[in-house]
Amino acid sequence: MSTLPASPTHPFTLRQLALGARLGLSAFVLVFFIGLAASGYHLVDHHQNRDEQPGVSLTDIEGAYHGVQATAPLLSALEGGHPAELAANERATLIAWLRSSRISEDYDSLELGDAAPAELLATRCMQCHSRAAVQGEHKDAKVALEYWEDVSRIAFSKRIEAVPVKILAASTHAHALSLAAMSIVIGALLLATRFSSWLRNGLCGAAGLALLVDLAGWWLARGSPAWTVPIVLAGGVYAASSALSLALILAELWLPRRG
Ligand code: HEC
Repeated sequence: MSTLPASPTHPFTLRQLALGARLGLSAFVLVFFIGLAASGYHLVDHHQNRDEQPGVSLTDIEGAYHGVQATAPLLSALEGGHPAELAANERATLIAWLRSSRISEDYDSLELGDAAPAELLATRCMQCHSRAAVQGEHKDAKVALEYWEDVSRIAFSKRIEAVPVKILAASTHAHALSLAAMSIVIGALLLATRFSSWLRNGLCGAAGLALLVDLAGWWLARGSPAWTVPIVLAGGVYAASSALSLALILAELWLPRRG
């Protein structure tokens, strides 16, 4: 089991390392995977509730890096023409109410009588949006609108402020230094694998550029919300190319030696 010296015809690859080193490197790779999984979890947990809707949306991300006006789902639905049968004047009443600064005060205002939002919701929406309906035959309508407790959850539009510069700077400081260092190590290990050069060079290039776009985007997005989509795409490319690189490194360490 002698190791051939590295040469242009037999370049060094990780598989040539002794068992102990391969075990150690494999463990490091697994730790990186745990780290990636934890980052994914943290990302969802950290961003998802900015717009008070479950799941991470572009609104959440735009809110974090640029700040955004999130329209209340109830207002979006009405302005989007839902439900189609609603009379124009009643729609206008509900929209004016949701755009006012008296959403909770006027919800079931006695002065407004039958034109009070609570009354309109009761007569025009309850067929599909009562609590019983959304749990039973109208599951597709998703949200209940029966009580103020239900309505208030989706009635308020709100301004999501971008994270303060101080916090963004702390986050950039932590991420830029550690991710760049981590990626240089992953890149170096990847280059010492047997896989085709376009794959190795391509992954290394993609991860590097994606990380640059992502971190620069955090700052550029303060000036322009157009950076929101690049941030998300670059984050995805960076995570995917890192995960694939790690998988290839692991394969290199344990696949049978060639020649
Ligand atoms: C005939 C049944 C029906 C009626 C009446 C109805 N809706 Fe809906 N509503 C639905 C269905 C089905 C959906 C889900 C599909 C969609 O978004 O169109 C929905 C979705 C919604 C949503 C979005 C929920 C979400 O989070 O995706 C809102 C808000 C809403 N309706 C409000 C209203 C209001 C306000 C009224 C009365 C003015 C009303 N609806 C009347 C059936 C109804």
